[in-house]
Amino acid sequence: MKLVGAGGAVLALTECGVGNARPAAVPALPPFSVPLRIPPVARPDRQDATTDYYRVRMAETQAEVYPGLQTKVLTYNGQFPAATIVAKRGRRAVVTQYNGTSRPTAVHLHGAHLPRKDDGHPMDLVEAGQERVYEYPNTQPGATLWYHDHAHHTEAEQVYRGLAGLYVLDDEAEHDLGLPDGEYDVPLMLRDAQFDPAGQLVFVLAGFAGRQTLLVNGRPQPYFEVAARKYRFRLLNCSNDRTFRLRLSDNRPFQLIGSDSGLLPAPVTVTDFDLSPGERVEAVVDFAPYEIGAQVTLTNDLAEVESAKSVMRFDIARTAADHSRVPPTLRPLPDLGEATVERHILMRVNLGATISSLLDDKVYDPNRIDQRVKLGTTEIWTITNTDVQAGIPHNMHLHLEQFQVLDRDGKPVTGHETGLKDTVLVPAGGNVRIKVRFTDHPGLFVYHCHMLDHSALGMMGQMEIT
Ligand code: C2O
Ligand code: CU
Ligand code: CU
Repeated sequence: MKLVGAGGAVLALTECGVGNARPAAVPALPPFSVPLRIPPVARPDRQDATTDYYRVRMAETQAEVYPGLQTKVLTYNGQFPAATIVAKRGRRAVVTQYNGTSRPTAVHLHGAHLPRKDDGHPMDLVEAGQERVYEYPNTQPGATLWYHDHAHHTEAEQVYRGLAGLYVLDDEAEHDLGLPDGEYDVPLMLRDAQFDPAGQLVFVLAGFAGRQTLLVNGRPQPYFEVAARKYRFRLLNCSNDRTFRLRLSDNRPFQLIGSDSGLLPAPVTVTDFDLSPGERVEAVVDFAPYEIGAQVTLTNDLAEVESAKSVMRFDIARTAADHSRVPPTLRPLPDLGEATVERHILMRVNLGATISSLLDDKVYDPNRIDQRVKLGTTEIWTITNTDVQAGIPHNMHLHLEQFQVLDRDGKPVTGHETGLKDTVLVPAGGNVRIKVRFTDHPGLFVYHCHMLDHSALGMMGQMEIT
């Protein structure tokens, strides 16, 4: 099963002549030279009995990615990566987004169950100099969501340049589970990037092979000083195209507790797991067995080059009390009902003179409806990736609804895929079956490959829900 590498390289070679050689990246920074930064929590502009109101300005600003260097980035309120919005289940969040950049944007809340007008559909653009108000109902169960740009065809570049942030939907009902919280609940946004010798981001559409620098929360391969106790990590892969296979260098286990849609039915203990673009995983790591002074690296077993092998390092720096626990059951899966509709979706890249990415052999057309869906129905979608020869992986993301992954290549899924998801990896030559129920919110929503270079090249379709 080939997940990354060849495919990305093929795309890059064909499109722009970028090979596998490591491009000059300056400054050369040894791994683990900079401390992890935790994105700040966004502060509401005002609050009333039911709602938190935020004001955000999208703009090109500078960020210190490398020590002492300013990198041009696109930001929400000047932060790279963006501030985390912490919403409370049952309280609305209303976010006014002003576009201070020079190009159209669209702000999508990935994983959210909400009305079409607030989804951030690729054609619901916020033009430069304009603003749009997004209303988030926050009625779904607690989950780690994220917000990011979705302007059609430019989403890949705009997310790459920084328009991405976490949105943690905090659920009161989960508080007495006793999971690690507060400073021991830590977001980790993983991605890759390509920098030029001046420390500026280089974006080449389908230029996967050039993106060999790993960033966590916007900093290259950082270290993080932890206490010898349990932590809850909320991992998001916000890379355009890179899939990670994450493992601790000494094979100490992760207890997976959550996926895209929040808590799993029960924790699953693993030594590694895959995280493809757009997916989230919540994992508890217990550092209690380590001596103070010990170090352990988070590694990426799918790295195609040395520089993409080490993601970050945990330095066990102190002791701390730990009253947290991981209970044996977390949140049961809802019953999605009996499926009455079946659909088949084909994913493939056309490596012709001009590259396009196809869903069912078509490129995205905002004026075309690809699937007509009736509210109240449960469906099974079989998604097949036929890019066997080129070895290009894809994944599938649905807006609006979370789904259950029934199987991959006929075998039941494990690990974080036992929870409800909105994005699922479809390896080259593989097929995945998902079960989804359309509950409410009519309108036109997209589904697409979340390898954003692929969706920007057309690997996206629309479902009209009535
Ligand atoms: Cu995070 Cu339509 O995507
Ligand atoms: Cu989405
Ligand atoms: Cu794809």
